[in-house]
Amino acid sequence: MDSPEENPKPSAEGVSSDASTKMEVPAATPPAARVAGGAAKASSTPTAAVAKGIPKPVAAKATGAVLESTPDAPINKMRRRIVWYSITGFLMTCFLMFVRFFLPRTIFEPASIFRIGFPSDYGIGVDTKWQQQYRIWVDKTSDRLFVIYARCTHLGCTPDWRSSENKFKCPCHGSGYDSEGVNFEGPAPRPMDRAEVKLDAEGQIVVNIGKLYKSPKGEKSEFNDEGSYIPL
Ligand code: FES
Repeated sequence: MDSPEENPKPSAEGVSSDASTKMEVPAATPPAARVAGGAAKASSTPTAAVAKGIPKPVAAKATGAVLESTPDAPINKMRRRIVWYSITGFLMTCFLMFVRFFLPRTIFEPASIFRIGFPSDYGIGVDTKWQQQYRIWVDKTSDRLFVIYARCTHLGCTPDWRSSENKFKCPCHGSGYDSEGVNFEGPAPRPMDRAEVKLDAEGQIVVNIGKLYKSPKGEKSEFNDEGSYIPL
C-alpha cells in the first residue's frame, strides 16, 4: 500500500494548486478539520484561528456554524409579522377611504314643509311648542293665524319669547319685538318674517318655511298677502 508521502494526493484533495501557498493536509486529519480547512479559504478568521493553535475540532465547530443555515429567531418572526400587519392595515385604510369617496354624504335637515295640527289646537297669543323642532312660533289673534319664523332680522339670532313682558327679546344685541313679531327696539331693521301657511283637505295647518313673507321698512308689507296667514 502506498503511503501519503510516496503518492501525494491531487491538489484538490488538500494541497493548494498555488505553489507559493502549498499546504499539505495530513491524511490523518479528521473530516471536520478538512471542512474547516476548505472554509478557511473563504474566510481568513478560521485560518487565523488554526494558525494560532486553536485545537482543530474547535475550529471545525466554529466554521460549521458558518456553513449551516440557522433557523429564524422568534423575535425576527414577530418583527416581520408586525411589519406585515402595519402595511396591510395601511393599505386597507387607503382602500376604505377610496371607496368612501364615491358614497354620497347626506345632510339631514328638518323638512321645510310640515303640518302642525288644526287652528282650534291653538289659543289666542303666542305658542312656542314648535320652536325647538321647526324654529317657528304660532301666533293667533282674533281674526287670523300666522306663523313667525324665529330669526332676528338683525344678524339672525333666535329671540326668546318673554310672556311676562309680552314680547320677544333677542339675546344677541337686544332687539325687541312685540307679540306679533314687529320690532320696536334695538338694531333690528324690520319685523320678523312670517312663513307661508295653508289648510290642507283635512283642515290641518301646513307650514312652509321655504317661503317667507317680509315687511321691510319703507316698502310694501307682505303680511297681508295671501298665504301669509289663515283667516279665522
Ligand atoms: S341678532 Fe338680534 S339683535 Fe342682533
